[in-house]
Amino acid sequence: MSSNTSDARLWGARFASGPSDAMANLSASVHFDWVLAPYDIAQSKAHARVLHGAGLLTKDELKTMLTGLDTLLENAASGKFIPTPADEDVHSALERGLIETIGPEVGGKLRAGRSRNDQVSTDLRMYLRNNARMLAVAVCDLQSALLVQAQAHVDHPAPGFTHLQHAQPVSFGHELAKHIHAFGRDLDRFADWDKRTAKSPMGSGALAGTSLDLDPVALAKDLGFEGVVENSIDGVSDRDYVAEFLFVTGLIGVHLSRLGEEICLWTSREFAWATLDDAWSTGSSIMPQKKNPDVAELARGKSGRLIGHVTAILTVLKGLPFAYNRDLQEDKESVIDAIETLHLLLPAMTGCVATLKFDTEKMLASAPDGFALATDIAEWVVRQGVPFREAHEIAGACVREAEKQGTDLDGLSDAQFAAIHPSLTPAVREVLTVQGSLDSRSTINGTAPASVRKQLAHAENNIADLKKWSAKLPHAI
Ligand code: ARG
Repeated sequence: MSSNTSDARLWGARFASGPSDAMANLSASVHFDWVLAPYDIAQSKAHARVLHGAGLLTKDELKTMLTGLDTLLENAASGKFIPTPADEDVHSALERGLIETIGPEVGGKLRAGRSRNDQVSTDLRMYLRNNARMLAVAVCDLQSALLVQAQAHVDHPAPGFTHLQHAQPVSFGHELAKHIHAFGRDLDRFADWDKRTAKSPMGSGALAGTSLDLDPVALAKDLGFEGVVENSIDGVSDRDYVAEFLFVTGLIGVHLSRLGEEICLWTSREFAWATLDDAWSTGSSIMPQKKNPDVAELARGKSGRLIGHVTAILTVLKGLPFAYNRDLQEDKESVIDAIETLHLLLPAMTGCVATLKFDTEKMLASAPDGFALATDIAEWVVRQGVPFREAHEIAGACVREAEKQGTDLDGLSDAQFAAIHPSLTPAVREVLTVQGSLDSRSTINGTAPASVRKQLAHAENNIADLKKWSAKLPHAI
C-alpha cells in the first residue's frame, strides 16, 4: 500500500514523488475555495445517503459518516478545523478532515462514485444559488430606499435630460424610479438564471458517469436542486452559469455606477440638487470645506472590476476542449470577489440614497430652463390639427424668437406668438407651465404625477415579489 494514501492529496499513488513547491503553490485553491466548505459537506452527506441506498455503506457506516461530517462542519465553522497549505483544495482538505474525525475505514469510502469534477461544479452551483438570493436581498433594500425617495418626490418637477442637456420637465419621483426598474430587471435575470442553475451535476463523475448504482435524481432532490444535468460531459465542463452570474453582477455594477454618476452630478455645486448626509460622505485631508460623494464614486469605480470578471470568465472558457480542464479552477475567485464587492457596495448605496436631501425648489426653478417646454408647444399645435413636421418648425421658431428677446417661452407676447403662426392663440399658454407639461404626459409610463403614482404602486408590488423570491435559500447548509 502506498504511503501516499494518508497524505492530503487525493491522487498520490501513481507518483514516486510529491509535487514541487512551485507546482503545489500554483495548483492550490484552498485559500479561496474554502468558502465552498459548507456546501461540500452538505453534498457529502447527500452522497453518503445515495451510497447507502446503493448498498455501498451499511446503516452504521452511514451514521458514522453523517455524524463525522456534522462534526467537521462545526469544526470548520468554529475554526477548530482549518485547511493547511498542503491541502490542494476544499475537497482534499475536507476528506482529510473527515478521515481525521472518523478514521480511514469509513471515511475512505465517501469518494466512491464521484470526482472532484462533478463535486466542484455542484458546490459552486449551490454557493451561487444561495448567494444570488443574498445579493437580491441587498438589491431589494436599495430598491426600497429608492422607492421611498421616489414616493416623496412624485409632485416635485425637475429638469429632465437627454444628452445631459435640458430636454423636458419630469416628475423627480419618475426620475428616481427608473433605477428601481433597472435593478428589478437584474433580479429577474437572477431568477431566470436560477432555473438553468438548479440542476445537479452529481452522477457525472469525472466525465462519463459512474458504474456504481447511485441515484443522482434522489441526491439532487436531497440537496435542494430541481433536477440533474442531462449529459455528464456537459455536467463537468459547463460554466455558463458562472458567466451568466457574472454578467448579472456586472450589470448590477453598471446600474450602481449610473446611479452613482447621477448622485455625483446632483451633489455638485453646479447642480446643487442634493446634499449628502455626513454619514455617507467623506472629507478632504487638505481642503476643510470638502464633502465628497465617495459612495457614488466607489460604485462607479468598482463597476470596473465587476465588468472585468465577465471578460475574464469568457476568456477562460472560450478555447476549452472536451470535459473538465484545470483552467476551470479560475472560475471561483471572480464570483467570490463579485459577491463580496456587491455586499460592500449595496448597503452603502442604500444608506446614501435613503439619506439624500433634495432641494426641490432648485429643481423646480430650473425645470423650464433651456426652453424645455418647446415640445409642449409642438404637441399643442399638433392637437390643433397641424402636422408634426410643421409643428416642430413652429415650436422651433418660438424658441428662436424667445432666445432673441432674451426671455423664456412664456415671456413671448400673444402678438409675437400669433406672428409666428396663426394656430398659436393665447390658449397655448395652458401648456407653458411646468405643471401643465407634466400633467399632459399621462401615458401609462409617462411622467404625469398621476401616472407615476400608479407606476410606483406597481414597482412596490414587484419589490415585494422579489423579496419573497430572495428570502428562501434553496440549499440548506
Ligand atoms: N480545485 C479544482 C477546481 O476548482 C477541483 C477539481 C479538480 N479536478 C481535477 N481533476 N484536478 O476546479
